[in-house]
Amino acid sequence: MVAGVTKHMNDDHTADNLLIAKAFGYPSASASRMVGVSVDGGAWAVTDPEGEHELSVAWPGGTISERPEIRREVVALYRVACERLGIEPRPESEPAAQRAHGAGHGHHGAGHHGAGSAHPAGDGAESADQPFSAVIRTSSWGDHSDSEGASFMEDIMRGRGTKQDYVDLSAQHYFMYLALEAAAERVSADPAFAGFHSDALARIPALEADLAHLIGDDWRERIAPVPATAAYAARIDEVAAEGWVAGVIAHHYTRYLGDLSGGQMIAKRVAKQHGLDGAGVAFYDFSELGSPADFKNEYRAALDRLGETLDEAERARMLDEVRAAYAFNTAVFVDLGKAKAAAAA
Ligand code: HEM
Repeated sequence: MVAGVTKHMNDDHTADNLLIAKAFGYPSASASRMVGVSVDGGAWAVTDPEGEHELSVAWPGGTISERPEIRREVVALYRVACERLGIEPRPESEPAAQRAHGAGHGHHGAGHHGAGSAHPAGDGAESADQPFSAVIRTSSWGDHSDSEGASFMEDIMRGRGTKQDYVDLSAQHYFMYLALEAAAERVSADPAFAGFHSDALARIPALEADLAHLIGDDWRERIAPVPATAAYAARIDEVAAEGWVAGVIAHHYTRYLGDLSGGQMIAKRVAKQHGLDGAGVAFYDFSELGSPADFKNEYRAALDRLGETLDEAERARMLDEVRAAYAFNTAVFVDLGKAKAAAAA
């Protein structure tokens, strides 16, 4: 039910999501995506110049108990948002016309990589006029939603996960980043890779410190990759061994841009829930990198430049690799969920 509501809001009400964000605390929001629905209210992931934020807004009519009430409350919330912003709400019968590209700010203006581009996976038909970074984002956003919506991940994000879940996830990150950072090292001299990597991205030292803090000095003997992580790492190794730079970038993009986006929200949530202050969540600390928003914009510009050097088949192949990277991440969450269920049985 939740997925249906959020999908509908993200597919058909992108401008309304943004309006709600602007009305409820983030006046400079450039993107807003609905990420959750509960009996008490809705949750949005909001991007503004300061970074990403999670916004929870209570339903205007109070707690709800039945599905049809959600629609009523979302409409009510939209009207409250309009009222706060001094905007005339559209009549009830009129559909929200603004899909991502119709939102009036062009398709790729700086800072407009909003969650508003939450298209279903594209068929490429609309990609001709889009910069490559936007093509990648829009055509893989459905896979992003699958990853983000995997119940193991969603539980962590919603505060339903245990500290052990977080520790188990961090251990998987360690194996992923061993492969990813070795792959980046392997292609580091290739001019096509310039513009994507920065030494400040390196996550292994932070993961080692986090795992020592969370598990103890013997952490190395106490962690193992789940099968999906092993397969993910093997795929990254394979891509790097082939010397396929765009393939390495596909994996690099999927992880690091994610860590700099939703990862920042996850870190806040986990740190608060489990009382972690720096130690244990260093993996998400990119302060040495400077402004995450600037870095992401530069990264997208590098993707756009790369796109111009690739032919259509190479672009399609890279897109497939991004989607595969998301699928690996989703599979890791599924395996972690299975391992958790098995441990509880
Ligand atoms: C609860 C989990 C998650 C949440 C709440 C979340 C949220 C977000 C948000 C709000 C953005 C948009 C940021 C922006 O507009 O700049 C974003 C972007 C992104 N996320 Fe996630 N995310 C989650 C999980 C993941 C996972 C598991 C991955 C893959 C490993 C991932 C990879 C990405 C990538 C690559 C982007 C950049 C897309 C682009 O702009 O090209 N995310 N995420």
